[in-house]
Amino acid sequence: MVALAAFFGVSALAVDSCTNLPALANEVAEINVISASWTSSNDLVLSDSSTGAALPNQYAFCRVKGNIEYSGNKSLGFELWLPEQDSYNERYLVVGNGGLAGTIDTSAMMLNLNRGYAVTAGHSGHDVALNVIIKIQAKYSQGDGYLGQSILNFTTNAVLEECDGIDGVVDDSSMASSTNVTCLTQPQINAIEAIYAGPTDSRNGDIIYPGCTLGSEKEWLMQETSLYLNYTTPILQNLVLNNLSFDINQFDFGADVDAVDAIASPLIDGISTDLSAFRKRGGKMIVAQGWADPYGALWSIMHLEQLQNATANEDVSDFFNLFMIPGMVNFADTGRLAR
Ligand SMILES: *[C@@H]1O[C@H](CO)[C@@H](O)[C@H](O)[C@H]1NC(C)=O
Ligand SMILES: *[C@@H]1O[C@H](CO)[C@@H](O)[C@H](O)[C@H]1NC(C)=O
Ligand SMILES: *[C@@H]1O[C@H](CO)[C@@H](O)[C@H](O)[C@H]1NC(C)=O
Ligand SMILES: *[C@@H]1O[C@H](CO)[C@@H](O)[C@H](O)[C@H]1NC(C)=O
Ligand SMILES: *[C@@H]1O[C@H](CO)[C@@H](O)[C@H](O)[C@H]1NC(C)=O
Ligand SMILES: *[C@@H]1O[C@H](CO)[C@@H](O)[C@H](O)[C@H]1NC(C)=O
Repeated sequence: MVALAAFFGVSALAVDSCTNLPALANEVAEINVISASWTSSNDLVLSDSSTGAALPNQYAFCRVKGNIEYSGNKSLGFELWLPEQDSYNERYLVVGNGGLAGTIDTSAMMLNLNRGYAVTAGHSGHDVALNVIIKIQAKYSQGDGYLGQSILNFTTNAVLEECDGIDGVVDDSSMASSTNVTCLTQPQINAIEAIYAGPTDSRNGDIIYPGCTLGSEKEWLMQETSLYLNYTTPILQNLVLNNLSFDINQFDFGADVDAVDAIASPLIDGISTDLSAFRKRGGKMIVAQGWADPYGALWSIMHLEQLQNATANEDVSDFFNLFMIPGMVNFADTGRLAR
């Protein structure tokens, strides 16, 4: 995806160069540009995916649509939005997508186009393996171990009360979450500790995915409810195990994890540690990860380690940098803070 910028020499455009772009781009064999259309300001009105508010393009831009073929007959769909010269901030940004991937997040593209970025997004790239952690929660969420929002709020407040000052900055305590809970039961403590610990391979105890971070608790509820029901279960039933009666409580943290990795991972994961072609071309990647992200803040650190391992422990900071952002939750784009 990042390669697109290099191919198009990311720069702001005007109407003529936009119209000429497909001919130019198709000189590069891998890239198939389907269309490039000039879009005047306010001509495209989307709706903001978090607020629902109307989201028009403040600046005119060249909207490029196309795909890149890979591994034979597979292809990656993409869009590249190039703002008009006067509005361009001279920066290029790749936005991701969530959940089942397979979509281009045009709403996130628009937010960033309106900040002056040249912005790209593709269909691919989301990490499904992380959702096995939901099983841990499902397991402990039954009966006494259920963690409702008041319990989760209480836990985050307690963690911050204990640890907040360690980084040298004491946050405004009036920002604490509201809660009517005053203590946790032992089953609730067991459930919370299992979620911090993360799931391990039942065959050898290896970490499958790192657990959730201290301070992310109040963001966990979706994993116990809508994500576990509407996301993990259908992926397992329809895609991975091809068994519509599969009961998630029967999930095997050995063989079933292998099946997820073998079947779902090649379709939706964007986790390769071989970035050599990107690096060789002079590519630079800046990754931002919120510490309070409930979907595995530590995974970004683990991935950086995997990348270092894959390059024989070379210093990768000349082309790959990870920034861990205190208090930030899952939606980096909106910069929503846990507190
Ligand atoms: C793509 O290639 C795979 C492997 O050769 C084959 O099984 C599949 O049917 C092909 N799909 C299409 C749509 O051609
Ligand atoms: C949890 O805290 C948030 C504020 O951070 C508040 O909006 C929400 O109502 C609280 N939920 C419960 C159930 O106490
Ligand atoms: C806290 O309030 C919620 C509703 O917001 C309620 O379901 C729960 O039982 C209450 N818990 C306690 C300990 O009072
Ligand atoms: C998604 O999960 C929620 C429970 O959180 C449920 O009410 C809803 O019906 C589910 N939607 C689908 C499409 O299964
Ligand atoms: C489908 O899943 C159910 C429940 O987990 C299990 O009892 C059944 O044996 C599975 N069916 C097949 C064909 O594997
Ligand atoms: C990196 O390599 C070291 C040494 O082989 C190993 O202990 C560690 O688990 C590896 N880290 C990751 C994240 O793969």
